[in-house]
Amino acid sequence: MLSELLARIDAGVRPMVTGLPADVAARVYSRGRKVLLSRMACEQPKRYSVPVALERALWGIVHRGPLMWGAGVDKEGALYHVSSRTGAAGHMVGTVTANAREGNVVEGIHAPFVPLPRSYAAVNNLGLPNPGDIIVSRRVSLFERDGCPVWVSVMVSPDLRGAERLEGLVDGMRMYERAGADVIELNMSCPNTGEDFADHDDVLKYVGERFVRESKVPVVVKESADLPQAGVPRVCDVLFEFGYAGINGVNTSRAYRECLERVDERERELFAGFTRRFKGGVSGRPLREVSLAFCARAREYVKEGPPSREFHVIRTGGIESGADLVESDRVGVSMNQWVTGYWERFSREGYQAYKRVHGEYGGLKNGG
Ligand SMILES: Cc1cc2nc3c(=O)[nH]c(=O)nc-3n(C[C@H](O)[C@H](O)[C@H](O)COP(=O)(O)O)c2cc1C
Repeated sequence: MLSELLARIDAGVRPMVTGLPADVAARVYSRGRKVLLSRMACEQPKRYSVPVALERALWGIVHRGPLMWGAGVDKEGALYHVSSRTGAAGHMVGTVTANAREGNVVEGIHAPFVPLPRSYAAVNNLGLPNPGDIIVSRRVSLFERDGCPVWVSVMVSPDLRGAERLEGLVDGMRMYERAGADVIELNMSCPNTGEDFADHDDVLKYVGERFVRESKVPVVVKESADLPQAGVPRVCDVLFEFGYAGINGVNTSRAYRECLERVDERERELFAGFTRRFKGGVSGRPLREVSLAFCARAREYVKEGPPSREFHVIRTGGIESGADLVESDRVGVSMNQWVTGYWERFSREGYQAYKRVHGEYGGLKNGG
């Protein structure tokens, strides 16, 4: 398919990106990302049936495997068929906000993004471009569902103030509930919109009282890679109190100094140039240990004092192989999400990426 061909050609030239100035690399890849996604929306990849042995139920909802996209791939609700045909455990839509957003423009570049292929990483400062809850919830209601559960990621709109801000968030959640979403993920951690989540716990309480307690749709909260380890139990306490259904760690990081150490030496100049000029959040392999430690801490805490409602720990950050999924199992993660690792594998394996990872995972689990 054309998207696979484009990604494969790109994989060949990508390592040269490292030699480009940050603004040129950002211009090429910010545009390239959009072209690839719009191409995928028109394609019908071959169906792959996930082995039944890999299925897992969360909150009584059967998921087709251990791995699905993280938020940020299908921000518009246009790619359900890609997840469902290629073997994703579920399909993630969003992050979506109450109002439509254009996303960030920095130095004339819309939604700046750059891959760091030698480091299996990326940096983005997209700024939550999305068409808004009304349009996306309508699209979700029209998905041709075939057993692949639908997750929707939502966030308070950084453009709204006062009561409108929280009311808009809960109104959106109700729209997705009516549209048939199986799981809602509340993004409390996007680092790219100027939203500083200063009222983090108040948002959780408000949504807890007005939506989570009365809704049958499980609500999971996604936290930042930069949340200190000690903060995990504190956030879990709030989630337990209001009946949230899980925690997802982690979103992208702005801890540039720590991430830089995990970036390949040949890509450090590009990393430094991009983060200085375009800012943004770091994703991919630099987050692998961070997400694992986050989830291990969350799982320990859940075991110490289990909440009354079924509660799952979801891992996102640096996942790229079956071996990563085995590591997740070891610490008690229920579901994994990937973004940067998916694109890395898509460039080599195209729509077979899930099938290949499942093969690695199954092989390792069976003692391979
Ligand atoms: C281009 C891009 C866009 C993203 N957009 C979102 C988003 O809209 N909402 C969100 O919660 N996370 C978003 N993320 C973060 C990812 O969901 C994920 O948490 C992070 O990239 C770490 O996972 P990874 O290492 O597999 O990429 C985005 C990441 C990337 C690279």
